[in-house]
Amino acid sequence: MKAGIESISFYAPHYFVDLRTLARRRGADPDKFLKGLGQEKMGVPPPDEDIVTMGANAARQALTGVDPATIDTLLFATESGIDQSKAAGIYVHHLLGLPSRCKAYELKQACCSSTAGVLAALALVRQEPHKRALVVASDVARYGLGTPGEPTQGAGAVALVISATPKLVALDIEHGSYTEDVMDFWRPNYREEALVDGKYSIKVYLRALSEAWRDYVRQTGRRFEDHARFCYHLPFTRMAEKAHLHLAKLTGHGEEPYETLMAQIESSLRYNRVVGNSYTASLYIGLASLLEGERDLDGQRLGIFSYGSGCMAAYLSGVVQKGYTAHLHADHHKRMLDERVELSFEEYAALYEHHLPTDGSAYETARHETGFFRLAGLNEHKRIYEKIERADSEPAHAEAERKAIAGHLA
Ligand code: COA
Repeated sequence: MKAGIESISFYAPHYFVDLRTLARRRGADPDKFLKGLGQEKMGVPPPDEDIVTMGANAARQALTGVDPATIDTLLFATESGIDQSKAAGIYVHHLLGLPSRCKAYELKQACCSSTAGVLAALALVRQEPHKRALVVASDVARYGLGTPGEPTQGAGAVALVISATPKLVALDIEHGSYTEDVMDFWRPNYREEALVDGKYSIKVYLRALSEAWRDYVRQTGRRFEDHARFCYHLPFTRMAEKAHLHLAKLTGHGEEPYETLMAQIESSLRYNRVVGNSYTASLYIGLASLLEGERDLDGQRLGIFSYGSGCMAAYLSGVVQKGYTAHLHADHHKRMLDERVELSFEEYAALYEHHLPTDGSAYETARHETGFFRLAGLNEHKRIYEKIERADSEPAHAEAERKAIAGHLA
């Protein structure tokens, strides 16, 4: 039977920093970030956005035209958790008005937990085809100021409706996997910024790719040439280039022209290049980028590599469904990205340094331009979320926005 992705949408915060600006302030050659890392911009969430509001925004759009009563389970993947006990998905469940019989869990294994959600969702709908699952992946990628990781920050969320009527991509249940205990990237509970051994993490990523691919071949018997396009986990888009050349070499395709190999990944990089890293969401934002960037993928097989530091990796595959272009949210994504506002370096640094209170006091967050949900404040250690009533196409309020950002500079 068929099962897979019926709908996919992502959300990126309304603010970004141009990496040329960051390079100037860090005394780096802009080409190191633009070409060496393959990143142009990085998304910056204001204080009234977090993994819940970003996830709810992505899911709101992905659920357009889907009967919420059919959602059996919400699987929320993140490595930017806001609570050690309560699943962030429960807030999203409430904000979206999902039925009380719909379950909600949070999943963790670095950037790979979104794929754990997808695999669990596939198993669920294959067993009970009348049900749907909603996978939401949402993260804020945050490294120390002035560290090598700083230009690979970003934030965003993606939501996938998984069902037995996959209008976009039918995913195979067979996949390859690989797990190894390594310390390439981690974030102890007491830290807000991740710690990363960057160069080592790239090596482990490539080793995990080899091993997950080998297992995938054992499970499916497929070859490199059976796949028309490839999507990779994207901590920065240049990583996909490294990964794809690595896989091509491993499978005896290393001598193929560079342009031919790059054409197999290029469309998947467009969104991530301007959103930045979004950890659990980044692979699937890449998948949305691919589907929305090419109109003739009907019936084509995709290779999908998921990597989560620490580490766990999975190699998945699926076939793009006939007529998929009619079920995408490309216009919505284009408008969201086009309307974003650029921050100066000082504005970015001020937002970075902003911290929510941890003493339980009542606190109202400044009102920034967000999507349809915002973190209104905190009280007695409880997060308070609110819905924003506005038309889908209502434009951003540029002046009010500038005032809100300036408030953080004061
Ligand atoms: N023009 C073009 N390219 C340039 C350049 C310039 N002026 N200056 C440097 N580069 C290239 C380098 O040659 C290098 O390319 P290579 O990887 O092909 O060798 C690339 O830009 C990055 O430069 P490097 O000196 O390696 O950067 P760095 O030491 O500052 O760190 C990361 C890069 C990715 C390790 C760092 O950003 C990081 O730790 N990121 C977070 C971790 C991560 O994302 N891990 C991935 C696995 S999940």
